[in-house]
Amino acid sequence: MKTNIINKPDMKLAANRQKDATVFSYLNLDKFDAIKSLVKGLKYFIKTYGCQANVRDEETMRGLLENAGYLPTENVENADLIIINTCAVRENAEDKVYGEIGNIKYLRKHNKNLILAICGCMVEEPEILQRLLDVYKEVNLFFGTHEISELYSLLYTCLTKQERVIAVESKPGEVIEGLPVCRNNSFKAFVNVMYGCDKFCTYCIVPYTRGKERSRRFVDVIRECQTLVDSGYQEITLLGQNVNAYGKDLNEGKDFADLLEEVAKLGIPRLRFTTSHPWDFSSKMIDVIAKYDNIMKFIHLPVQSGNDEILRKMGRRYNREQYLALVKEMRRKIPSLTLSTDIIVGFPNESEEEFLDTVSLVDEVKYEAAFTFIYSPRKGTPAARLKDNVPYEVKSQRFIELVKHLEKHIEEYSNSLLGKVYPVLVDGPSKNNPDLLSGYTESNKIVHFKGSKDLIGKIINVRINESHTYSLLGEIVDE
Ligand code: SAH
Ligand code: SF4
Ligand code: F3S
Repeated sequence: MKTNIINKPDMKLAANRQKDATVFSYLNLDKFDAIKSLVKGLKYFIKTYGCQANVRDEETMRGLLENAGYLPTENVENADLIIINTCAVRENAEDKVYGEIGNIKYLRKHNKNLILAICGCMVEEPEILQRLLDVYKEVNLFFGTHEISELYSLLYTCLTKQERVIAVESKPGEVIEGLPVCRNNSFKAFVNVMYGCDKFCTYCIVPYTRGKERSRRFVDVIRECQTLVDSGYQEITLLGQNVNAYGKDLNEGKDFADLLEEVAKLGIPRLRFTTSHPWDFSSKMIDVIAKYDNIMKFIHLPVQSGNDEILRKMGRRYNREQYLALVKEMRRKIPSLTLSTDIIVGFPNESEEEFLDTVSLVDEVKYEAAFTFIYSPRKGTPAARLKDNVPYEVKSQRFIELVKHLEKHIEEYSNSLLGKVYPVLVDGPSKNNPDLLSGYTESNKIVHFKGSKDLIGKIINVRINESHTYSLLGEIVDE
């Protein structure tokens, strides 16, 4: 099969951050009409890994595909188009994808017309892309995070020519408006407020895979949120790799606090946002969160490490004292606040003492939720070039130790909820026990309880009867 290289990724270009104004453009509809007659009734299947940015990208792709006439299928074996939407943030995220492609590549033997596509963050990393190209000959379409709006023309090429298509451009990044969306959920929605990341934390691949930090226009975000409110949505989560940077690239004179306030005023019952970098979390933002009841008092505030030297080597732009001062201000102004975090254990050459600073920070902040990761070197990032003197077994030991401390605090928090009544947005049947329903409290804690399926998508009151570290059991009360 001929290989058609439209673009290949380039880490140098991907790291380029000229202070050019953000470019806005629209969906490429070139091949839309042509494709409609080719795909009518064909079925697609998408499997997504990684963060909410990828989940939201899947919804855009589903919108594009269904507008063109593709139908969804849950059964991968029936699909005429399979898209694996990948994540490259850590090696284990990558390994899952290799496993998945290994499992499905045989399908091309049975269906020569099958389009097997890989997109997302993995294909943005040149060495990973090369490995995928070399090992998985069955995959005939590779496209990057900047090419979703080109999907019609890419699919058109695959449908009309026996070619393997590679389209991964490492451009600084545009904002594309006018993209359709087919949402995965009818009461909880993700809304992108900005794309990309300019923080370049030294361990992280995201700034290379997602490009320049760029904001959507204020009116475009508000319009999308208004549509969701009008269609009865109960919860909106505003998305960005670092939402606090919102607006800095626009000349609109608005920042994230302004945007958050304006969305809160639309009257959505629950408003969340993720992720916030501690470096540019403003007091103005804290005040807005405190002021509006419908902004959930739950903040994900990744700390990564509690040691100043490690934070400096990570390029995080704050020190322990500044982070703790921010937490103090938040807890003072928002008494019901719950905090969650991300922590990396075993950054290159992390000493035992440096690690213990992270443990003591955890004991000081007493997080209500947390995600802990063992450092995973990512090719092309500055940290991956550091020699590392810490054996993996030591990192694993530290990981276990840290999780013990985190779980103690999380458990204490869970226990403090016992006997009290909290509003819960009902999500659906419980994953482990279909006889129960599950939903989330305002503080993002999962609760399981008995109830009728009619309640799915509604906010109800639940009394907490039993607490486990990561979940709660309760019963519905009429209040
Ligand atoms: N923009 C968000 C999310 C980034 S990825 C943020 O800054 O919070 C989510 C988490 O993955 C990060 O917070 C970090 O804790 C972790 N992570 C990123 N790169 C990693 C790496 N190379 N090894 C281990 N964990 C990593
Ligand atoms: Fe990665 Fe840092 Fe950007 Fe988060 S802020 S996406 S950790 S570079
Ligand atoms: Fe993964 Fe890309 Fe998100 S690397 S965490 S899917 S931005």
